[in-house]
Amino acid sequence: MGTDLDELLAQARRDVETATDARALEALRVAWLGKKGRITEGLKQLGRLPPEERRQAGERLNRARDELTQALEDKARALSEQALTQRLAAETLDVTLPGRGSGAGSLHPITRTLRRIERIFTAMGFESVDGPEIEDDWHNFQALNIPESHPARAMQDTFYLFGGARLLRTHTSPVQIRTMRTRKPPIRIICSGRVYRVDFDRTHSPMFHQVEGLYVADQVSLADLKHDLQRFLSLFFEREVEAQFRPSYFPFVEPGAEMQIRWGDRWLEVLGCGLVHPNVLQAVDIDPERYTGYAFGMGVERLAMLRYGVDDLRLFFDNDLRFLEQFA
Ligand code: PHE
Repeated sequence: MGTDLDELLAQARRDVETATDARALEALRVAWLGKKGRITEGLKQLGRLPPEERRQAGERLNRARDELTQALEDKARALSEQALTQRLAAETLDVTLPGRGSGAGSLHPITRTLRRIERIFTAMGFESVDGPEIEDDWHNFQALNIPESHPARAMQDTFYLFGGARLLRTHTSPVQIRTMRTRKPPIRIICSGRVYRVDFDRTHSPMFHQVEGLYVADQVSLADLKHDLQRFLSLFFEREVEAQFRPSYFPFVEPGAEMQIRWGDRWLEVLGCGLVHPNVLQAVDIDPERYTGYAFGMGVERLAMLRYGVDDLRLFFDNDLRFLEQFA
């Protein structure tokens, strides 16, 4: 047993020394000091030794047991200290770092543009009214002089609900109808909100915003329309902008025009307008012999693109904060 034990013990100490975790240490403890461990077995067999060897062998085994126990304990402590040091290093908290801030929100550029448009028109004597985004065919088309199967409907394909009984409004013009049905001239209103169309490219999104304007009174003329819109544009852009009216067709106005604004080497259409068609006035029981009116519908995204120099309308709805924060 003598030298054997010394050699084995030396090996055990080396194993303890190189153990890298608590599990390895526990395995060593079981192998040596456990119920069936080497030292335990040795102690059990002491009885078989002749009495003169027994005492010495017993002492050596006891010493070996104590030494190994100590080595295991020391190593266990060293390992846990090391683990702690590592954790502290990994979990350091740098209290000198600047805070993240409260992340104050800001208004979406389209909301800002809408409010700006509303403020200007309100100052020009328009009252802001509201209308539903879910419309029926009559308000969105028929009362606006767009009968069923009229080709103008093709340009305003939309999303139908309840088996076709309702639709997402394709423009804010149905609010003209709602307003004229409930009020008598003089009427001078704007209405802003979301509208929907089956369109998607750099300058179109299936959901976008419009501001509708309607002025019905005695003798409202094309000159009033042109004056008011030009006044609006110069207030909106804070400078004289190059704009042009082009004859255009909308079933609910006569004559009809679209207004375009110079955008680099292009002209960008920002609104449709015209004098309210007599058929529309008739549909809402306003006498077209007595009253005239103008109406316009402008694209809010278009105006925001021009004002902020954004060349892809879809950016407004990607919700990328890096883009949106630039307007805060
Ligand atoms: N509703 C029309 C559109 O969305 C715009 C428009 C409004 C044109 C009012 C004329 C008068 O295209």
